[in-house]
Amino acid sequence: MRAVAARPERVAVVSGVGQGLALLLQVLAAEGRRKLAVEDPGSPGTLELLRAHGVRPVGVPVDQEGLVVRKLAASGAQAVLVTPAHQYPTGVVLSARRRTELAAWARAGGLVVEDDYDAEFRYDREPLGAVQGLAPERTVYLGSLSKTLAPGLRLGWAVLPGELVEPFAHAKRYADLGTGAIDQLAFAALLESGGYDRHLRAVRPRYRARRDALVAALREHLPEAELRGVAAGLHLYADLPDGVDEQAVAEAALRRGVRVATVAPGRLSPGRAAIALGYAGVAEQRLREAAALLGEAVREVR
Ligand SMILES: Cc1ncc(COP(=O)(O)O)c(C=O)c1O
Repeated sequence: MRAVAARPERVAVVSGVGQGLALLLQVLAAEGRRKLAVEDPGSPGTLELLRAHGVRPVGVPVDQEGLVVRKLAASGAQAVLVTPAHQYPTGVVLSARRRTELAAWARAGGLVVEDDYDAEFRYDREPLGAVQGLAPERTVYLGSLSKTLAPGLRLGWAVLPGELVEPFAHAKRYADLGTGAIDQLAFAALLESGGYDRHLRAVRPRYRARRDALVAALREHLPEAELRGVAAGLHLYADLPDGVDEQAVAEAALRRGVRVATVAPGRLSPGRAAIALGYAGVAEQRLREAAALLGEAVREVR
C-alpha cells in the first residue's frame, strides 16, 4: 500500500515509531552521529525524545511543498527525520519534486528517517507512496498502528537499509527481548482477514466528515484564522491572526473546555503564532461547539 521496498529480513517489529526512533538514535550515537536535521516546525514530542537521547536537532524550514531540501543540503546534517506523507504540524505533503530532491540527497550520502505519520488518512485523493521506495538503502522507514488503531497498542515497524539491520536488531534485542507476540499475532489475523482494511475504509469517511465540519465551523466562528494543509490526517493547522499569542489562546480555550495544541514547542526558530486541532476523536456537533468556543477564546485575548 505504501510502495515500501520491504523484504522480510529488513523489517523489525517495534513498540511504535517512538521506540523505532529511540533505537535508531542509539545506533547512530554509537557511530558518533548525534546531530539530526528535523522539520521546523515539527512535533514537540519528537523533539523531546531526541533531546532525551542526547541528540541535537537542527531545524530545516517547511514550506507549502514540505521540507526545503535545498536548506537541508546547506545545513551540513548527515541524517534527517521527516514526515513526508502529512507533515506534523503544518499538514503539508512533501511534493513530488522535493521527494526527488530528498532521494538524491540521500543517495549522495545522507540518511532519511521517514516517519510515515498518518499516511493512511487521505480524504480527497490517493496518498503518494513512501520516500523509502525511492532510496531504500538510504532510508529508515517507520510506521505504527498508533493512528489507525490505538496508540495504547504500542505496535509498529521499522524497515531498514541493509547496513543498519544488524546493529538495529542488536539494539532491539537488548532493549526488551522483543515486542509482544500475542499482539503481533492478533494484528496479523486482523490483516489477513481483511478486517484492518475494512476498518480503514470505515473510519476514513467518518474522519473526513469531522474535518469538513470543523473547517466549516472555523470559517464561521474564526474567519481570521488561515487553515493550512491538505485534506488528510487527524488534525488541522490554523495560523492565528497577527498579534494573537498562541499560548494565551490555548489557555483561554482550555478555560472553556477546549484543548488545542500550540505550535511553538515544536519550533526551533521563531514563526507565526499557530495552533493544531485534533478532530478525529470528536463528534461533529461537539466540533462545531468547540469552534465557537475557540472563536470566543481568540476574541478574549486579542
Ligand atoms: C509526528 C509523530 N509521529 C509518530 C507518532 C506516533 O508514535 P508511536 O508510533 O510511538 O505511537 C506521533 C505520536 O503522536 C507523532 O506525533
